Amino acid sequence: MIPINKAILLVGGKGTRLMPLTTKTPKPMLKIAGAPVTEHQIIKAREAGISEIVLATSYLADVFEPYFGDGSRFGIKIKYAYETEPLGTGGAIANAAQQLELGENEALFIFNGDVLSAHDLAAQAKLHIDSNAAVTLHLVEVSDARAYGCVPISADSKVLQFLEKMDNPIAKTINAGCYIFSNRALKEIPKGSVVSVERETFPALLSSGQNIYGYVDGGYWIDMGTPESMIRASRDLISNPALSKATPEVINHTLVMREVQLHSSSKVGEGSYLESGVVIEANSIVNGSIVGEKAHIESDVLIENSYIAPGSRVTSGSKIRGEIFGF
Ligand code: GTP
Repeated sequence: MIPINKAILLVGGKGTRLMPLTTKTPKPMLKIAGAPVTEHQIIKAREAGISEIVLATSYLADVFEPYFGDGSRFGIKIKYAYETEPLGTGGAIANAAQQLELGENEALFIFNGDVLSAHDLAAQAKLHIDSNAAVTLHLVEVSDARAYGCVPISADSKVLQFLEKMDNPIAKTINAGCYIFSNRALKEIPKGSVVSVERETFPALLSSGQNIYGYVDGGYWIDMGTPESMIRASRDLISNPALSKATPEVINHTLVMREVQLHSSSKVGEGSYLESGVVIEANSIVNGSIVGEKAHIESDVLIENSYIAPGSRVTSGSKIRGEIFGF
């Protein structure tokens, strides 16, 4: 079993790039492929052998505990950390870590709350332990790293630098949002202050001579920071249900929840997700989209690669392509 079994899940960001989807629901609680993003992540953590997880909440903090409770429904112990002001990623980690009793030589996983990844947590943990690293980051290789800060590594997987976005990135490896922190590295983050782990903690650890390692894994990975990538993630999980055990049963490559009324002349294409109580009238087509709870789609509507708000109504003849509708 995995030798690191405690984790923090960062779920407190405002999700500004997803506005207005995130006006009332924080990004990690948005449902994709039948479950909130956080649930997909918690189930993955549990499957890897993680037994205790702290949700580091801030923005719309009150919605997590009523859904996840103490975690027993999900087979894992869940605790909650709250912030009086948003502490940034590093501050949130330091705050949440106080809820875990970590041994002097223990390490823990940190997960960004908006990433779905099929990478091998046990292999990342092995690299961390074998190299006695302060921090071990999951890195992914992208063909064009211009939209990200890149993280070049040496042949023996040591992180060399943390570089901001640039026009000509010198490496293809980027930070994939899953870190293992040794307790000694955790102690370097000041408590009660606003700190960015990416911009402050990691560069400071490197410049003080601590070893940071990069674990590169080519498994499925998606950062759901934008509406397009959120919709794509839902499609991907439905098209490949093996990616998440939190995805309910997929039939005919689509996910249709309870009490959906679908007119026999309408079609729902591969990768679509219809939440409970959705109504679709005659001659409508839904492709690769998320249709929220109790949304009502009238007749002769076309919806492609879009996110339809729960409870909204799409009027007859509408064509919705690549849109966030009804929020
Ligand atoms: P954008 O505003 O669209 O950039 O999204 P975001 O708010 O999620 O920010 P970002 O993607 O940089 O955050 C990375 C991870 O850290 C996400 O899982 C956030 O939920 C989380 N996060 C960011 N800031 C905070 C914070 O102040 N407190 C807590 N608890 N989590 C945070």
